[in-house]
Amino acid sequence: MEPRILSGKVLSGEIEQELRRDAAALTAGGTPPCLAVILLGDNPASHTYVRNKIKAAERVGIASRDRFMPATTSQAELEAEISALNADPAVHGILCQMPLPEGLNAERVTRLIDPAKDVDCFHPFNVGLLAMGIPRFYPCTPAGVLELMSRNGIEVSGQHVVILGRSNITGRPLSLLLSHKGTDATVTVCHSRTRELATLTRQADILVAATGIPQWVTGEMVKEGAVVIDVGINRIDDASRKQGYRLVGDVDYATVAPKTTAITPVPGGVGPMTITMLLRNTIQAARMAGDSSAI
Ligand code: GUN
Repeated sequence: MEPRILSGKVLSGEIEQELRRDAAALTAGGTPPCLAVILLGDNPASHTYVRNKIKAAERVGIASRDRFMPATTSQAELEAEISALNADPAVHGILCQMPLPEGLNAERVTRLIDPAKDVDCFHPFNVGLLAMGIPRFYPCTPAGVLELMSRNGIEVSGQHVVILGRSNITGRPLSLLLSHKGTDATVTVCHSRTRELATLTRQADILVAATGIPQWVTGEMVKEGAVVIDVGINRIDDASRKQGYRLVGDVDYATVAPKTTAITPVPGGVGPMTITMLLRNTIQAARMAGDSSAI
């Protein structure tokens, strides 16, 4: 049977409609939601991501403050910019696109962003709340993965979810979210030192690939009837394309898709959901800014 294609493109469009109403209500109430995006240097993939974030914010009615800074920006200059955005009451969300250019300290940046404006959910304070099961913000990519499954009727409670990759952006926070009481998945996190990897992946009811290695997961690693979520967005050379490359996931779609009951495409799967969750967090941050009882 053909697998169900879990389209993040379609779903994010639907959620954007909901967010547009929320943003309009906040604006009418005198708190127009505003997201500041900082991008350093000229990494082409980062520029594409940031452009898409700014366009999506515009569609939903969230104002953007864009800070495009050169790769030669010093740590002190970057921190001064963040401090200014922290102090600006009109700014509700701050995102500094990773990775930073060589020589800059990402951990200092993560710690400096006001936790109340940390719409990435990268700050140790927010990661701590997440680990305790009382999140203030939901990290964007993991939240996008969960939303994509729940709104497509894919039950995760009691399911064995195997996550490939333990990054701070996806693998580790996703494992926390999935194991929360109320979500109730059984989670295995695999990484570069995991032994008998294919034995584990073949036990997955739901397999999440977040390794950053193009087309790494192949059909023989997947159980018949599994759900596969591909978080990867990789550029590989393709002379037949005008740009000279095409986008592929961490999953070898051709061999994996026929074994699944549902699978995310790349592009148009998790990627658009990540951006929509960022906008949702920005609206949440704007709401909290007007509510002194919020932590
Ligand atoms: N680089 C790749 N993904 C992300 C993300 O979700 N947030 C930030 N800040 N940088 C990224």
